[in-house]
Amino acid sequence: MNTIETVRVGLLGFGTVGQSVARILCAGHVSRVQLTHIFNRRVASKHVDWVPPTVKWTDEIDDVLRSDVDVVVELVGGLHPAYEWVRAALTSGKSVVTANKQLIAHYGAELGELARANGQQLRFEASVAGGIPVLRALQEGLAGDRLVEVRGILNGTCAYILSRMQSAELPFAEALAEAQAAGYAEADPTEDVDGADAAAKLAIIAAVGLRRPIRVSDIATQSIRPIDFVDFQYAKEIDSTIRQIARAAIEEDGRVFAVVGPALVPIHSSFGQITGSQNLVMVRGVFGGETWFSGSGAGGSPTAVAVVSDLLSIGRHAPRDAGLLPVASVAEVSSDFVAPHYVRFMVADRPGILAEVCAGFARHGINIEAVVQLPRYRKDRLPFVATLEACAASVLGRALADIARLEFHVEPPLALPILA
Ligand SMILES: NC(=O)c1ccc[n+]([C@@H]2O[C@H](COP(=O)([O-])OP(=O)(O)OC[C@H]3O[C@@H](n4cnc5c(N)ncnc54)[C@H](OP(=O)(O)O)[C@@H]3O)[C@@H](O)[C@H]2O)c1
Repeated sequence: MNTIETVRVGLLGFGTVGQSVARILCAGHVSRVQLTHIFNRRVASKHVDWVPPTVKWTDEIDDVLRSDVDVVVELVGGLHPAYEWVRAALTSGKSVVTANKQLIAHYGAELGELARANGQQLRFEASVAGGIPVLRALQEGLAGDRLVEVRGILNGTCAYILSRMQSAELPFAEALAEAQAAGYAEADPTEDVDGADAAAKLAIIAAVGLRRPIRVSDIATQSIRPIDFVDFQYAKEIDSTIRQIARAAIEEDGRVFAVVGPALVPIHSSFGQITGSQNLVMVRGVFGGETWFSGSGAGGSPTAVAVVSDLLSIGRHAPRDAGLLPVASVAEVSSDFVAPHYVRFMVADRPGILAEVCAGFARHGINIEAVVQLPRYRKDRLPFVATLEACAASVLGRALADIARLEFHVEPPLALPILA
């Protein structure tokens, strides 16, 4: 097996993760990896005294792309110009390590092919679940199984917001503001709370673990924004809480299902216990059953550990091992999971509402399991909940479109799957 004597590294991006990677590489305990270049815009403002003077600081990308580095570590984030820089690095005979989930979810197969064609490697362990080495575990440790299902809490912002809504009885807007103040949420939280971040990670896990490349844009996402504190009160009545869950499954007939959105999970389950930046991933294989992974899903240092581990594995492996995404035709994706559901209505109360809601579900062949109405709410904004026996999400969608036409709603009904 070929090995590179010392891996020379050029770092693109000296932000949260970039600085943590540099810290590890400059700490002296990682042998055979040498940081030689740091690139960032307005680089003069980035200088720190703990980086050795042999490292070249630059704000000219070509200083790295045209240098003799063996590996470019892309930590600027975003799709562009990261995509162009990674392409240029691979084309000029350098391997690439990245933590960029959007880049890999959108262009991973293409960039993997480019790496292979140039005898280089593309590694992206840090792009999913931060410091948890889940991709390598799926690819190597569970390679002997046929994985058919994955469920995960893959977004720390949502876990923080939802767990604060639960424990401090906060409305969504207040929990979000608190998350932003604590550094758990961006000023613009759209990618996190509306599901695009978790969808990108799910697409990568599906490609690597389920061996089914899927388009991120084909993964249905449901925002956590409509979740109200009242939903936690009702969820508790059935020993549940609410978390953003990313899930994908392959049916026996080969159909692929994937979705990201809030779901009810048992309050004392592993998923129900996750708070803050912890991530949790469960995969199920035909032969080995369930395997669980948990740990720090974000943060500079945990993510940097994954990046440096990728650098070390590049040093160990022959370029032939490059390209982690199986290149096969992209699978069609359905979001039509069958599950029991929680549906919360917010109504201006009057006699007969329950009968009309029940009739609406019955028209679509949906069986109600229970109806719950907690006391002490205002009559002009009265919440009540129906839990439903297992039905397809599409059938429920049609029933709710029907029911939502009735005049008593003060906000649209909220439907969440109940996951065992
Ligand atoms: N933070 C985490 O916990 C975490 C976890 C897993 C994966 N990731 C991924 O890791 C990557 C980096 O994240 P981060 O949190 O380290 O981001 P960050 O703190 O915003 O750092 C990005 C760095 O890149 C620089 N940069 C951005 N665009 C640039 C451009 N066009 N030209 C030159 N420099 C540019 C920024 O410079 P300025 O300072 O001038 O903006 C900043 O120093 C992202 O892909 C992210 O999704 C992060």
